[in-house]
Amino acid sequence: MRILVIGSGAREHALIWKIAQSKLTEKIFCAPGNGGISQQAECINIKSEDIFGLLEFARREKIDLTVVGPEVPLSMGIVDEFQKAGLKIFGPNKSAARLEASKVFSKELMAKYNVPTADFKVFDDPAAADKYIEEIGAPCVVKADGLAAGKGVVVAKSIEQAKQAVGAMMRDKVFGNAGNKIIIEECLKGQEASILVITDSKAVMALASAQDHKRVFDNDAGPNTGGMGAYSPAPIVTDQLLKEIMDKVIYRTIDGLAKEGIDYRGVLYAGIMLTKDGPKTLEFNVRFGDPETEAILPRLKSDLVEIMMAVSSGSLLRVGNFSWDKRACVCVVCAAGGYPGNYEKGKEIFGLDKVSAMKDVMVFQAGTSSRVINDLGQKREVEYRTNGGRVLGVTGLGETISEAIDKTYAAVKEISFEGMHYRTDIGKKANRGI
Ligand code: AMP
Ligand code: GLY
Repeated sequence: MRILVIGSGAREHALIWKIAQSKLTEKIFCAPGNGGISQQAECINIKSEDIFGLLEFARREKIDLTVVGPEVPLSMGIVDEFQKAGLKIFGPNKSAARLEASKVFSKELMAKYNVPTADFKVFDDPAAADKYIEEIGAPCVVKADGLAAGKGVVVAKSIEQAKQAVGAMMRDKVFGNAGNKIIIEECLKGQEASILVITDSKAVMALASAQDHKRVFDNDAGPNTGGMGAYSPAPIVTDQLLKEIMDKVIYRTIDGLAKEGIDYRGVLYAGIMLTKDGPKTLEFNVRFGDPETEAILPRLKSDLVEIMMAVSSGSLLRVGNFSWDKRACVCVVCAAGGYPGNYEKGKEIFGLDKVSAMKDVMVFQAGTSSRVINDLGQKREVEYRTNGGRVLGVTGLGETISEAIDKTYAAVKEISFEGMHYRTDIGKKANRGI
């Protein structure tokens, strides 16, 4: 099969790494891809939001399956357009993608179908939002309705901070139309876990649990990022807890969508807060999580292409339960100096050669560019440079979480680029069991 993957992060690199292992795969393309991906797939210079450019490419190149990484093309309706053209594509359609693209839609669906989540209110007027904040006090959480590249949530510790967030979103429009409506919700406490499932709207199969690390510095300090690391499995998600999350969150949501006439296909990602009153849903994403995917896919033994094809033809039940490597997996993100604030690009990355020889270690590249500097002789030499904020997802498998942590950090220590920083405590929470 000829497969097209859309996106340019470490998540897409991990997807391609896994897709390349399928006996069904003949050739992989990636739009637009990155430096690391270009070593495994043919990168094409089409942006992931250029739906018609991608559609034209898929038709011309006779693509058998397209896999969408990021949320923006899904929310723009790429799946609907490909399906109209008779092309197979993995992901939810535009109306199902509202689960991520509109937090108001998502919260109202949860309220209607009794999916546990934080108490909330929706506002389209900043003065009314300010008044409500005065009433409920702090802490509280302010969320922009629309997509804001992961920056649209403010967990406010004070009334002033909450009102500032309302002002930025609704008056100053820092996220454009995404802030036309906002949600103000109850602040939940607990550990977070990511539960991802794959569904063809009839069968629902859970992927292995994972935990993300959103803050930039050790011990969850500093500002939020796109994710500084992840591990899988998350021991806090026991079988019993997983069953409860499946029953109360996942099935109720997919059934609720079906009752609204929406057929959900693809990956559904629930961000869950494990509160003392049970699991509550923080958010839904309609795609693979990043960096969770980098820690989950190395543990998946089943054929991902077979799974995705089954989703697209509605025969996932026939694939049955997925099979998993029992080992633990840890992914540590190496970021550019300054990230998540301003950062420079173009720094040469050293040590990747050394790491590529390490057993059970994978480096999934995110913000990188590459250039072949020597294609002669036996050894092909490639130079990699930084080209984004999150640069690499260094990933290791081990018999235990501790072993996976040690392997991963041993690999991280071999890698360097000017300004590189990373968290040194990825996976520690799993061992503390809190
Ligand atoms: P979201 O984009 O909704 O996942 O929010 C991003 C992050 O904000 C989550 O991963 C949580 O850490 C935090 N968050 C979101 N909603 C709440 C809430 N109701 N209470 C506490 N923290 C929250
Ligand atoms: N890991 C968080 C996300 O993918 O949105």
